[in-house]
Amino acid sequence: MSAADFSAWSAKQLVQVEQALSAWVPADAPAGLGDAMRYAVLYGGKRLRPLLVLAASESVQGNPHAALRAACAVELIHAYSLVHDDMPCMDNDVLRRGKPTVHVQFGEARALLAGDALQALAFELLTPEGADVPPAMQAELCRLLARAAGAQGMAGGQAIDLASVGKPLSETELRGMHERKTGALLQASVRMGAACGSAVTPAARAALDDFGAVIGLAFQVVDDILDVTADSAELGKTAGKDAAADKPTYVSLLGLPAAQALADALCSQAHAALGASGLPGVERLRALADLVVKRRN
Ligand code: IPE
Ligand code: IPE
Ligand code: MG
Ligand code: MG
Ligand code: MG
Repeated sequence: MSAADFSAWSAKQLVQVEQALSAWVPADAPAGLGDAMRYAVLYGGKRLRPLLVLAASESVQGNPHAALRAACAVELIHAYSLVHDDMPCMDNDVLRRGKPTVHVQFGEARALLAGDALQALAFELLTPEGADVPPAMQAELCRLLARAAGAQGMAGGQAIDLASVGKPLSETELRGMHERKTGALLQASVRMGAACGSAVTPAARAALDDFGAVIGLAFQVVDDILDVTADSAELGKTAGKDAAADKPTYVSLLGLPAAQALADALCSQAHAALGASGLPGVERLRALADLVVKRRN
Protein backbone atom coordinates (compact mmCIF):
# COMPACT_ATOMS: atom_id res chain seq x y z
CA MET A 1 0.00 0.00 0.00
CA SER A 2 1.40 3.40 -0.97
CA ALA A 3 1.81 6.20 1.55
CA ALA A 4 -0.96 8.10 -0.26
CA ASP A 5 -3.34 5.13 -0.05
CA PHE A 6 -2.65 4.78 3.67
CA SER A 7 -3.23 8.46 4.34
CA ALA A 8 -6.48 8.40 2.38
CA TRP A 9 -7.59 5.32 4.32
CA SER A 10 -6.68 6.80 7.69
CA ALA A 11 -8.26 10.19 6.91
CA LYS A 12 -11.52 8.40 6.11
CA GLN A 13 -11.41 6.32 9.29
CA LEU A 14 -10.59 9.35 11.41
CA VAL A 15 -13.65 11.22 10.15
CA GLN A 16 -15.81 8.26 11.09
CA VAL A 17 -14.21 7.93 14.54
CA GLU A 18 -14.49 11.65 15.32
CA GLN A 19 -18.15 11.68 14.31
CA ALA A 20 -18.92 8.59 16.37
CA LEU A 21 -17.08 9.87 19.45
CA SER A 22 -18.83 13.20 19.20
CA ALA A 23 -22.20 11.46 18.94
CA TRP A 24 -21.54 9.01 21.77
CA VAL A 25 -19.87 11.17 24.41
CA PRO A 26 -22.82 13.00 25.97
CA ALA A 27 -22.88 16.77 26.36
CA ASP A 28 -25.80 16.58 28.78
CA ALA A 29 -24.26 14.62 31.66
CA PRO A 30 -25.19 16.41 34.92
CA ALA A 31 -23.48 19.36 36.52
CA GLY A 32 -20.90 19.99 33.82
CA LEU A 33 -19.65 16.40 33.76
CA GLY A 34 -20.48 16.16 30.04
CA ASP A 35 -18.34 19.20 29.26
CA ALA A 36 -15.36 17.63 31.02
CA MET A 37 -15.91 14.28 29.26
CA ARG A 38 -16.10 15.89 25.83
CA TYR A 39 -13.09 18.09 26.58
CA ALA A 40 -11.10 14.97 27.51
CA VAL A 41 -12.02 13.00 24.39
CA LEU A 42 -12.70 15.34 21.48
CA TYR A 43 -10.40 18.00 19.99
CA GLY A 44 -7.09 16.23 19.59
CA GLY A 45 -5.30 12.94 19.95
CA LYS A 46 -3.73 10.85 17.23
CA ARG A 47 -6.43 8.15 17.53
CA LEU A 48 -3.81 5.48 17.04
CA ARG A 49 -5.75 2.89 19.06
CA PRO A 50 -8.96 3.31 17.01
CA LEU A 51 -6.94 3.05 13.79
CA LEU A 52 -5.39 -0.19 15.04
CA VAL A 53 -8.82 -1.63 15.85
CA LEU A 54 -10.18 -0.69 12.44
CA ALA A 55 -7.11 -1.93 10.53
CA ALA A 56 -7.07 -5.23 12.43
CA SER A 57 -10.79 -5.67 11.82
CA GLU A 58 -10.37 -5.02 8.10
CA SER A 59 -7.57 -7.59 7.97
CA VAL A 60 -10.08 -10.25 9.10
CA GLN A 61 -13.16 -8.88 7.30
CA GLY A 62 -14.62 -7.94 10.67
CA ASN A 63 -18.11 -6.69 11.52
CA PRO A 64 -17.88 -2.90 10.86
CA HIS A 65 -20.48 -1.99 13.52
CA ALA A 66 -18.54 -3.88 16.15
CA ALA A 67 -15.23 -2.43 14.95
CA LEU A 68 -16.38 1.19 15.16
CA ARG A 69 -17.74 0.62 18.67
CA ALA A 70 -14.54 -1.14 19.72
CA ALA A 71 -12.42 1.64 18.20
CA CYS A 72 -14.29 4.29 20.19
CA ALA A 73 -14.40 2.21 23.37
CA VAL A 74 -10.64 1.77 23.49
CA GLU A 75 -10.14 5.48 22.82
CA LEU A 76 -12.45 6.30 25.75
CA ILE A 77 -10.39 4.11 28.07
CA HIS A 78 -7.23 5.75 26.75
CA ALA A 79 -8.69 9.24 27.25
CA TYR A 80 -9.73 8.36 30.79
CA SER A 81 -6.23 7.02 31.52
CA LEU A 82 -4.72 10.31 30.33
CA VAL A 83 -7.07 12.39 32.51
CA HIS A 84 -6.07 10.44 35.60
CA ASP A 85 -2.38 10.19 34.57
CA ASP A 86 -2.17 13.98 34.41
CA MET A 87 -3.71 14.62 37.84
CA PRO A 88 -1.57 16.03 40.66
CA CYS A 89 -1.59 12.70 42.49
CA MET A 90 0.01 11.05 39.46
CA ASP A 91 2.18 12.93 36.92
CA ASN A 92 0.90 16.41 37.78
CA ASP A 93 0.83 17.68 34.19
CA VAL A 94 -0.83 20.89 33.05
CA LEU A 95 -0.70 20.44 29.25
CA ARG A 96 -2.27 17.68 27.15
CA ARG A 97 -3.07 17.63 23.44
CA GLY A 98 -2.00 21.27 23.33
CA LYS A 99 -4.55 22.39 25.94
CA PRO A 100 -4.76 22.71 29.71
CA THR A 101 -5.31 19.28 31.28
CA VAL A 102 -8.81 18.35 32.40
CA HIS A 103 -8.17 18.95 36.11
CA VAL A 104 -6.66 22.37 35.36
CA GLN A 105 -9.70 23.30 33.31
CA PHE A 106 -12.45 21.73 35.43
CA GLY A 107 -10.95 20.94 38.85
CA GLU A 108 -9.71 17.66 40.27
CA ALA A 109 -13.03 16.23 41.38
CA ARG A 110 -14.63 16.68 37.99
CA ALA A 111 -11.55 15.27 36.24
CA LEU A 112 -11.73 12.18 38.44
CA LEU A 113 -15.43 11.73 37.68
CA ALA A 114 -14.98 12.38 33.96
CA GLY A 115 -12.44 9.54 33.91
CA ASP A 116 -14.82 7.27 35.81
CA ALA A 117 -17.70 8.07 33.47
CA LEU A 118 -15.60 7.58 30.33
CA GLN A 119 -14.54 4.16 31.53
CA ALA A 120 -18.16 3.12 32.08
CA LEU A 121 -19.22 4.59 28.74
CA ALA A 122 -16.60 2.46 26.96
CA PHE A 123 -18.35 -0.72 28.11
CA GLU A 124 -21.77 0.68 27.33
CA LEU A 125 -20.62 1.25 23.73
CA LEU A 126 -19.55 -2.38 23.48
CA THR A 127 -22.93 -3.73 24.54
CA PRO A 128 -25.55 -2.21 22.23
CA GLU A 129 -29.10 -3.48 22.09
CA GLY A 130 -30.25 -4.86 18.74
CA ALA A 131 -28.68 -7.28 16.28
CA ASP A 132 -25.70 -5.29 14.95
CA VAL A 133 -23.17 -7.00 17.23
CA PRO A 134 -23.82 -10.63 18.23
CA PRO A 135 -23.87 -11.22 22.03
CA ALA A 136 -20.82 -13.51 22.02
CA MET A 137 -18.79 -10.87 20.17
CA GLN A 138 -19.95 -8.19 22.63
CA ALA A 139 -18.81 -10.37 25.52
CA GLU A 140 -15.41 -11.03 24.02
CA LEU A 141 -14.81 -7.36 23.26
CA CYS A 142 -15.72 -6.45 26.86
CA ARG A 143 -13.44 -9.14 28.26
CA LEU A 144 -10.47 -8.04 26.13
CA LEU A 145 -10.90 -4.38 27.03
CA ALA A 146 -11.50 -5.02 30.74
CA ARG A 147 -8.37 -7.14 31.04
CA ALA A 148 -6.24 -4.59 29.24
CA ALA A 149 -7.53 -1.67 31.30
CA GLY A 150 -7.43 -3.30 34.71
CA ALA A 151 -5.04 -4.57 37.34
CA GLN A 152 -3.08 -6.80 34.97
CA GLY A 153 -2.98 -4.10 32.31
CA MET A 154 -3.01 -0.30 32.25
CA ALA A 155 -4.01 0.33 35.88
CA GLY A 156 -1.47 -2.21 37.14
CA GLY A 157 1.24 -0.66 34.98
CA GLN A 158 0.41 2.79 36.26
CA ALA A 159 0.75 1.47 39.83
CA ILE A 160 4.22 0.15 38.98
CA ASP A 161 5.07 3.50 37.36
CA LEU A 162 4.21 5.42 40.52
CA ALA A 163 6.04 2.95 42.74
CA SER A 164 9.16 3.22 40.55
CA VAL A 165 9.89 6.93 40.86
CA GLY A 166 13.55 7.36 41.71
CA LYS A 167 14.28 3.64 41.39
CA PRO A 168 16.58 2.20 38.77
CA LEU A 169 14.60 -0.70 37.26
CA SER A 170 16.18 -3.62 35.46
CA GLU A 171 15.36 -3.95 31.77
CA THR A 172 12.96 -6.81 32.59
CA GLU A 173 11.16 -4.71 35.20
CA LEU A 174 10.95 -1.68 32.93
CA ARG A 175 9.62 -3.81 30.12
CA GLY A 176 6.98 -5.28 32.43
CA MET A 177 5.87 -1.79 33.43
CA HIS A 178 5.67 -0.52 29.85
CA GLU A 179 3.91 -3.63 28.58
CA ARG A 180 1.20 -3.07 31.16
CA LYS A 181 0.75 0.67 31.36
CA THR A 182 0.76 1.29 27.60
CA GLY A 183 1.30 -1.97 25.73
CA ALA A 184 -1.82 -3.67 27.06
CA LEU A 185 -4.29 -1.21 25.53
CA LEU A 186 -2.47 -1.15 22.20
CA GLN A 187 -2.37 -4.93 22.08
CA ALA A 188 -6.03 -5.00 23.06
CA SER A 189 -6.80 -2.66 20.16
CA VAL A 190 -5.41 -5.22 17.72
CA ARG A 191 -7.07 -8.10 19.56
CA MET A 192 -10.43 -6.36 19.58
CA GLY A 193 -10.18 -5.69 15.85
CA ALA A 194 -9.41 -9.37 15.30
CA ALA A 195 -12.34 -10.32 17.54
CA CYS A 196 -14.69 -8.49 15.15
CA GLY A 197 -14.00 -11.23 12.57
CA SER A 198 -15.75 -14.55 12.75
CA ALA A 199 -13.41 -16.96 10.97
CA VAL A 200 -9.94 -16.03 12.17
CA THR A 201 -7.56 -19.00 12.49
CA PRO A 202 -5.76 -19.52 15.81
CA ALA A 203 -2.43 -19.02 14.02
CA ALA A 204 -3.50 -15.66 12.59
CA ARG A 205 -4.80 -14.57 16.01
CA ALA A 206 -1.51 -15.56 17.65
CA ALA A 207 0.48 -13.63 15.05
CA LEU A 208 -1.71 -10.54 15.51
CA ASP A 209 -1.21 -10.89 19.26
CA ASP A 210 2.57 -10.88 18.77
CA PHE A 211 2.21 -7.85 16.52
CA GLY A 212 0.15 -6.02 19.16
CA ALA A 213 2.64 -6.86 21.91
CA VAL A 214 5.65 -5.53 20.05
CA ILE A 215 4.04 -2.34 18.82
CA GLY A 216 2.62 -1.79 22.31
CA LEU A 217 6.09 -1.87 23.83
CA ALA A 218 7.55 0.11 20.92
CA PHE A 219 4.95 2.82 21.48
CA GLN A 220 6.08 3.49 25.05
CA VAL A 221 9.79 3.26 24.14
CA VAL A 222 9.13 6.01 21.57
CA ASP A 223 7.09 7.99 24.13
CA ASP A 224 10.15 7.87 26.42
CA ILE A 225 12.40 8.99 23.54
CA LEU A 226 10.10 11.85 22.50
CA ASP A 227 9.99 13.12 26.08
CA VAL A 228 13.71 13.85 25.61
CA THR A 229 13.99 14.71 21.90
CA ALA A 230 10.80 16.64 21.08
CA ASP A 231 9.62 19.95 22.46
CA SER A 232 6.36 20.76 24.23
CA ALA A 233 4.88 22.49 21.17
CA GLU A 234 5.41 19.39 19.02
CA LEU A 235 4.18 17.03 21.72
CA GLY A 236 1.22 19.05 22.97
CA LYS A 237 2.36 17.99 26.45
CA THR A 238 5.25 19.16 28.61
CA ALA A 239 8.53 17.72 27.33
CA GLY A 240 11.30 16.63 29.68
CA LYS A 241 8.94 15.51 32.43
CA ASP A 242 10.33 12.01 32.88
CA ALA A 243 13.82 13.09 33.89
CA ALA A 244 12.41 15.94 35.97
CA ALA A 245 10.18 13.48 37.85
CA ASP A 246 12.99 10.89 38.10
CA LYS A 247 10.99 8.22 36.24
CA PRO A 248 12.77 5.16 34.94
CA THR A 249 12.49 5.11 31.13
CA TYR A 250 14.18 3.34 28.22
CA VAL A 251 16.24 6.48 27.70
CA SER A 252 17.42 6.59 31.32
CA LEU A 253 18.16 2.85 31.21
CA LEU A 254 19.80 2.42 27.80
CA GLY A 255 20.61 5.93 26.55
CA LEU A 256 19.07 7.49 23.45
CA PRO A 257 20.85 5.60 20.64
CA ALA A 258 20.11 2.16 22.14
CA ALA A 259 16.52 3.12 22.91
CA GLN A 260 16.06 4.20 19.27
CA ALA A 261 17.70 0.98 18.07
CA LEU A 262 15.28 -1.00 20.25
CA ALA A 263 12.29 0.85 18.78
CA ASP A 264 13.52 0.07 15.26
CA ALA A 265 14.10 -3.59 16.14
CA LEU A 266 10.58 -3.85 17.58
CA CYS A 267 9.20 -2.34 14.37
CA SER A 268 10.96 -5.07 12.35
CA GLN A 269 9.54 -7.69 14.71
CA ALA A 270 6.09 -6.22 14.15
CA HIS A 271 6.50 -6.54 10.38
CA ALA A 272 7.67 -10.14 10.80
CA ALA A 273 4.63 -10.98 12.94
CA LEU A 274 2.34 -9.65 10.21
CA GLY A 275 4.17 -11.79 7.65
CA ALA A 276 3.64 -14.82 9.89
CA SER A 277 -0.08 -14.14 10.18
CA GLY A 278 -0.72 -15.38 6.66
CA LEU A 279 -3.48 -12.76 6.39
CA PRO A 280 -3.68 -11.03 3.00
CA GLY A 281 -4.81 -7.53 4.06
CA VAL A 282 -2.27 -6.38 6.66
CA GLU A 283 -0.75 -3.38 4.84
CA ARG A 284 -2.59 -0.90 7.04
CA LEU A 285 -1.30 -2.56 10.19
CA ARG A 286 2.20 -2.47 8.69
CA ALA A 287 1.87 1.27 8.04
CA LEU A 288 0.59 1.82 11.59
CA ALA A 289 3.63 0.03 13.03
CA ASP A 290 5.85 2.40 11.04
CA LEU A 291 3.85 5.33 12.36
CA VAL A 292 4.33 4.19 15.97
CA VAL A 293 8.09 4.29 15.56
CA LYS A 294 8.52 7.26 13.19
CA ARG A 295 6.04 9.64 14.81
CA ARG A 296 7.15 13.03 16.10
CA ASN A 297 4.36 13.48 18.63
C1 IPE B 1 0.10 9.11 25.28
O1 IPE B 1 -0.58 8.40 24.30
C2 IPE B 1 0.14 8.34 26.54
C3 IPE B 1 0.81 7.06 26.47
C4 IPE B 1 0.16 5.96 26.60
C5 IPE B 1 2.23 7.01 26.31
P1 IPE B 1 -0.75 8.99 22.84
O2 IPE B 1 0.59 9.51 22.36
O3 IPE B 1 -1.43 7.99 21.98
O4 IPE B 1 -1.71 10.24 23.09
P2 IPE B 1 -2.78 10.94 22.15
O5 IPE B 1 -4.00 10.11 22.24
O6 IPE B 1 -2.25 11.01 20.76
O7 IPE B 1 -2.96 12.29 22.76
C1 IPE C 1 1.09 7.10 30.50
O1 IPE C 1 2.46 7.09 30.37
C2 IPE C 1 0.49 5.83 30.26
C3 IPE C 1 -0.95 5.88 30.57
C4 IPE C 1 -1.54 4.82 30.98
C5 IPE C 1 -1.74 7.10 30.43
P1 IPE C 1 3.09 8.54 30.47
O2 IPE C 1 2.83 9.17 31.78
O3 IPE C 1 4.50 8.44 30.00
O4 IPE C 1 2.23 9.31 29.34
P2 IPE C 1 2.42 10.83 28.98
O5 IPE C 1 3.86 11.02 28.59
O6 IPE C 1 2.00 11.61 30.19
O7 IPE C 1 1.50 11.03 27.79
MG1 MG D 1 2.45 8.56 33.72
MG1 MG E 1 2.16 11.19 32.14
MG1 MG F 1 5.48 9.82 28.70
